[in-house]
Amino acid sequence: DDDDLMKPRPPVVTIMGHVDHGKTSLLDAIRNTRVTAGEAGGITQHIAAYQVDHKGQSITFIDTPGHAAFTDMRERGANITDIVILVVAADDGVKQQTADSIVCARQAGVPLVVAINKIDLEASDPNKVMTELTQYDILTEDLGGDVLTSQISAKEGTNLDDLLNKIMLQAEIQDLKANYDRNAEAFVVEAKVEVGLGTVATSLVKKGTLKIGDIFAAGETYGKVRTLISTDGKTRLKEVGPSTPVRIVGFEGIPAAGDSLIVVDDEQTARTLAESR
Ligand code: GTP
Ligand code: NA
Ligand code: MG
Repeated sequence: DDDDLMKPRPPVVTIMGHVDHGKTSLLDAIRNTRVTAGEAGGITQHIAAYQVDHKGQSITFIDTPGHAAFTDMRERGANITDIVILVVAADDGVKQQTADSIVCARQAGVPLVVAINKIDLEASDPNKVMTELTQYDILTEDLGGDVLTSQISAKEGTNLDDLLNKIMLQAEIQDLKANYDRNAEAFVVEAKVEVGLGTVATSLVKKGTLKIGDIFAAGETYGKVRTLISTDGKTRLKEVGPSTPVRIVGFEGIPAAGDSLIVVDDEQTARTLAESR
């Protein structure tokens, strides 16, 4: 991509950590308090990616909190995560899946922001967590390092603003940019058939701008963008830019999670690409 055409894009954030340390609670807390569009009944249960606004800037969260999903996406060569939030419960400390998450993020070359959760609990010991993390070469700010860290309670909504600020700060450091003005490339997060719509693929646009009428190949299938729906199911969109999750309608078949969706110039090219996979 031409450097001149690169413009800032929102960070794509994946939440990881040990079982029951509060990954989903954190997502819920952020979603409840930040998502402008609010909840949308049955459809929201299937959302795998969503975007929130923080101080006029967008942050995209991928709702695949398990590290298995993250590894799977990485193995498919889809380097879509910019930042990992490592959730560690302050009453439990660093556990097996915490360590796995650290390794996973490191192998993918994705920087961490640490969220020490459950600080509302009597038994919480944030300092112990920070000390344990040093064994994995993670030196938090409090210990003189440069790993951004927030002490939060997902349950009580404590310090979520601080965490979101740190995500934005980490994103600034990474200077995330994309070319908005080219044929789109997207990553399929989840695809399924819905009554009345046919195949709906929740996807994340990586590069370019995806528009109604765009012809594309996606994995072993292809199609033409008929409808673009916001991930809360409420808004029909004309186009979506980089780092934005969207529900796409218009597939001939059903793509797989992890497939790349690539916009091409004509249907023949799309078919040929799909058949060559
Ligand atoms: P898995 O997806 O099963 O790995 O768990 P998770 O990491 O998503 O944790 P989840 O959000 O399901 O929370 C696990 C438990 O911890 C639930 O009972 C939550 O209510 C509780 N919990 C989460 N955050 C907090 C917190 O900040 N404080 C307290 N006291 N409890 C919390
Ligand atoms: Na849980
Ligand atoms: Mg969970």
